Amino acid sequence: MRTKVNNANNIFLNSAKCAGAGFAIATILSGIMIGLVSPKEKAASRWGVSAALLGLVGGGAIGLIQKRQSQSGLDNEQITTDLQPTGETYWKGWRNFTVAHKVKETEEITSFYLEPQDRGELPQFEPGQFLTLKLDIPGQEKPVIRTYSLSDYPVPVAYYRLSIKRELAPSGLNVMAGIASNYLHDHIYEGSVIAVRPPSGKFVIDVHKSVPAVLISNGVGITPMISMAIACCYINPNRPIWFVHGTRNGLSHAFRDDILALAQKHPNLHVHFAYSRPRPEDNGFYHSEGYVDSQKIKQLVGKEAEFFLCGSPSFMQSLQSGLKMWGVPDNQVFYESFERRASNSIEPQIATNKGIGEAQIVFAESNRELTWTINDGTLLEFAEANDINPPFSCRSGICGTCTCKIIEGEVAYQQAPTAAIESGSALICISKPRTSKVILAL
Ligand SMILES: Cc1cc2nc3c(=O)[nH]c(=O)nc-3n(C[C@H](O)[C@H](O)[C@H](O)COP(=O)(O)OP(=O)(O)OC[C@H]3O[C@@H](n4cnc5c(N)ncnc54)[C@H](O)[C@@H]3O)c2cc1C
Ligand code: FES
Repeated sequence: MRTKVNNANNIFLNSAKCAGAGFAIATILSGIMIGLVSPKEKAASRWGVSAALLGLVGGGAIGLIQKRQSQSGLDNEQITTDLQPTGETYWKGWRNFTVAHKVKETEEITSFYLEPQDRGELPQFEPGQFLTLKLDIPGQEKPVIRTYSLSDYPVPVAYYRLSIKRELAPSGLNVMAGIASNYLHDHIYEGSVIAVRPPSGKFVIDVHKSVPAVLISNGVGITPMISMAIACCYINPNRPIWFVHGTRNGLSHAFRDDILALAQKHPNLHVHFAYSRPRPEDNGFYHSEGYVDSQKIKQLVGKEAEFFLCGSPSFMQSLQSGLKMWGVPDNQVFYESFERRASNSIEPQIATNKGIGEAQIVFAESNRELTWTINDGTLLEFAEANDINPPFSCRSGICGTCTCKIIEGEVAYQQAPTAAIESGSALICISKPRTSKVILAL
């Protein structure tokens, strides 16, 4: 099933379109007729030419209005309820995209509108999914791969939008600022080309359900929530949605006006903005002062709902435990973390399968055979420690970037993967050996 705009139900838009088209055709025809019947009469032929031009301009203007209406996720009047993208037409591997627009949303967040360089079709995605980018950054030994949530839901899909926060170095640490985000902010312009893998990810909302959806985010965690809110509003306007977002103040608040405009059009969308450090000029633009926590959520909604969380690690942890204590079952809580687990900082995980204590690992393409022991961490960490550098992004089993073919043997996952795994492959960022020998196509 493909997503389609169903403007057929919009009686006013249709009437305007029909009237405009009729007007354009009639004026063009009458212009030509007058010109043909009385070619020598100057006034008549002038009228003929002007009428034809008027018809063309009128038709063109209506065409432009129609194009704009169909492209912006926030402008669509109505979408058929018979939709949910399947990803059947996703491309394979990397595809070049051109940055069509670069828009500064706040001091920290900038949006990038991507269009395929080949001008081919763009598959619809599921609200909440992300794209994986490959960036050739000067000074980096290998391409830098990062994942970014799709932050809009245009129908039909004329572009993909990503909204990216500039990651500064943590205060007090003498380390480099975020590599990819700063490069994107400072060196990627309109017209730049970026390699992109197809939309992916399982942090998605089933828009067809009727139970209330509570979209809770802070900071740049707002990005998948925008896509989810737009999709729900247009596809299933009967589903109650709560959009709860926490940020410092109006300066750091991205997409505030977009969300308020969406809520004005869609009474099923309820908005709550919490500012932790509001400025006097923010008065009237936020609903509560302080952080978003489970107490706040309890005051707003009942627990018979689906809760979607995306934000900083402390925010997610406090909400997850707060919702649990409130009695919300785990299967009603969905979350996505943007934070990459740092290399060599693997904390003991609750192992879904403990694996074994020692194994021989063969990196077939690198022609290396090495002994792995339990302290060597995941297979990704083990490879990196031995100067084999497979691609990765989330390091948490979310994005699928580290997928690697297993030629022989088996692996044990240390946490439940959320990325799709092809049979015969493994996500090495979250796996350890399960058999005494594992041969990887690396
Ligand atoms: C599914 C998913 C969706 C995402 N969606 C979005 C999105 O919509 N928008 C968005 O902005 N981001 C998103 N992210 C996060 C994004 O993928 C990147 O992780 C983020 O942009 C940071 O990447 P970077 O290369 O700029 O920073 P990195 O270079 O990876 O550094 C990250 C941070 O670590 C610090 N650092 C560097 N070295 C050290 C060190 N030795 N010790 C301690 N700290 C260090 C850096 O200063 C920086 O603050 C998403 C992530 C995932 C997994
Ligand atoms: S790096 Fe994202 S799943 Fe492994």
